[in-house]
Amino acid sequence: MNTPLIASEISEAVLAQLRKAAEEMLQRAYAPYSHFPVGAALLTGSGRIFQGCNIENAAYPSGLCAEAVAIGQMIATLGAMPIRAAYIVCKGHSPAWPCGNCRQRLNEFAAPTMWVYTATLAGSPQRMAFGDLLPNGFGAMNLRKEGRQ
Ligand code: THU
Repeated sequence: MNTPLIASEISEAVLAQLRKAAEEMLQRAYAPYSHFPVGAALLTGSGRIFQGCNIENAAYPSGLCAEAVAIGQMIATLGAMPIRAAYIVCKGHSPAWPCGNCRQRLNEFAAPTMWVYTATLAGSPQRMAFGDLLPNGFGAMNLRKEGRQ
């Protein structure tokens, strides 16, 4: 018996689109130093998909993660939107979960339920709820006056 879809679930068709969008980014990645290309695709609440790849730099800390670039694409194109899902694809031997900085970046725009999918190019995806990747994240609510003690 199939488990019923809950509102936050994403259809297989959309998920396939999201993965394709992330995979496409592996070709664009600029990773001459780590040789670790990463592609990311974000699904917004309105159903739009934004893509990003990592962009490294000879000054290593100036490099950008794929997730950060995808967020930049979203903001530059549409502005801030709730993100329902992030899909990350890498060519490594095991799937890569977003780094700590990117978890914080994603936290800024995460929908109440946001799924993170990660896969290697050849493998099937693993999935986690964003809240399990960054529990008790620091966010805009912490800066609201009415929330202060
Ligand atoms: N990287 C990402 O783009 N996203 C991640 O989630 C993990 C790491 C990039 C940063 C750097 O260009 C390369 O992978 C190796 O760390």
